[in-house]
Amino acid sequence: MRIAVVGTGHVGLPTAVSLAHLGHVVVACDSDSEKVAELAAGRTPFYEEGLDDLLQAELGAGRLRFTTELAGAVAGAVVAFICVGTPPRASGAANLLALERVAEQIAKAATNDLVVVGKSTVPTGTAERLAETLARHGNGAAFTVVSSPEFLREGRAVEDSLSPSRIVIGSDSPGGFAVMREVYAPLIDAGVAYIETDIRTAELAKHACNAFLSLKISYANALARICELSGADVVAVADIMGSDPRIGRAHLDAGLGYGGYCFPKDLAAFSRLVGELGYAMPLLDEVARLNDEAVEACVAKVRDALWNLEDKRIALLGLSFKPGTDDVRFSPALALAARLLAEGARVVGYDPKAMAAATAEVGALQTAPDLYAALEGAHCAVVATDWPEFKDLDLAKAKELMAFPIVVDGRNAFDPAAMAEAGFTYYPTGRPVVKPGFRRA
Ligand code: UDX
Repeated sequence: MRIAVVGTGHVGLPTAVSLAHLGHVVVACDSDSEKVAELAAGRTPFYEEGLDDLLQAELGAGRLRFTTELAGAVAGAVVAFICVGTPPRASGAANLLALERVAEQIAKAATNDLVVVGKSTVPTGTAERLAETLARHGNGAAFTVVSSPEFLREGRAVEDSLSPSRIVIGSDSPGGFAVMREVYAPLIDAGVAYIETDIRTAELAKHACNAFLSLKISYANALARICELSGADVVAVADIMGSDPRIGRAHLDAGLGYGGYCFPKDLAAFSRLVGELGYAMPLLDEVARLNDEAVEACVAKVRDALWNLEDKRIALLGLSFKPGTDDVRFSPALALAARLLAEGARVVGYDPKAMAAATAEVGALQTAPDLYAALEGAHCAVVATDWPEFKDLDLAKAKELMAFPIVVDGRNAFDPAAMAEAGFTYYPTGRPVVKPGFRRA
């Protein structure tokens, strides 16, 4: 099937590459000509495990092509996926201007009847707006709008695209459903859960999922504060909660909180939408407040450990919003860096992938070429992102290098007893602080 994908960001690129991998002929377009040139040469503009290999394989197989010309991508296509960004406006509402502009261009470029699939996270009712825009600017072709929310996680985009937890298709057209069944036939045949529903439900479900996952994280972070006050251990509490299949263990890790380009902005947009619909759900705002509190709680620990922060050197381990990506958008690590810098500390960050993006965002942030260089002379190290390689830290070497052996762990990456045995004062999240000489009970 001939498919156009508009937008080659964190959703559009994995979508284009995986649709090609399913056997379709895909033309992906983006207005950024430099990005298109890089992609055409087989290079991904951001780090995503396995995506380079798949991109090169599909380019080589001739199933995937990139262009800056939307009209060229859409002409002759049976399906067009819209994967452009929906950034937040100052009010928190999603800015849907890019979506409208793309719909207008698609309408003008279509040479035949077309199924237009909205993948971007949007407020309920957007599909109707898309349909209206396509009809206004079209030149005879019939358009069927489908909503297919994307649930892929950054860092696992390839895995989530090729074996998704579920595929959701919202449409009010039997023809639209039929075409989408063809698009995803290989995944449906492989047993992937496939859900057909109405458009508004599909749109709302995406916001409902992201808000609920954010809620789980903020719940875990509130529990962390309670555990710190009561002497309980939030990791053990989360394990006990997670062993109940009705709750589930995923997204119950307390820490610095959630970041990235989905949870913070989707929660704000959902809260805004709910208000516009005439309902109030203060729970959503409380989730965001608890998320901000998680960063503040970490700053308080650093202050507790170091007293005044002026002229103290702090090694910030991890800068991306989560491991496995170089994405620093809404990264709690950078929010923390900004807070520590504002209190006069010298912050030296290290991240396996996100250093350039982080310094572009926070100018005063210094970086070190490796983990141990970041730790050298540090009065305190703060774990902000749980990159797996941090777990292999040579604790004896780290202690030797640091000015004070103090670790504040915003991701519970280390074993408290091992930290104490290695001679560290260790502040985990939602677990008792341990000092050198501590022995596990
Ligand atoms: C999320 C959704 O998981 C995905 O389904 C949706 O399509 C896009 O948004 P993503 O933003 O890639 O995906 O990351 P996710 O793995 O969900 O983590 C989001 C943030 O929450 C990260 O900052 C992560 O560190 C944090 N997090 C996650 C926690 O603090 N605790 C947890 O238990 C899980």
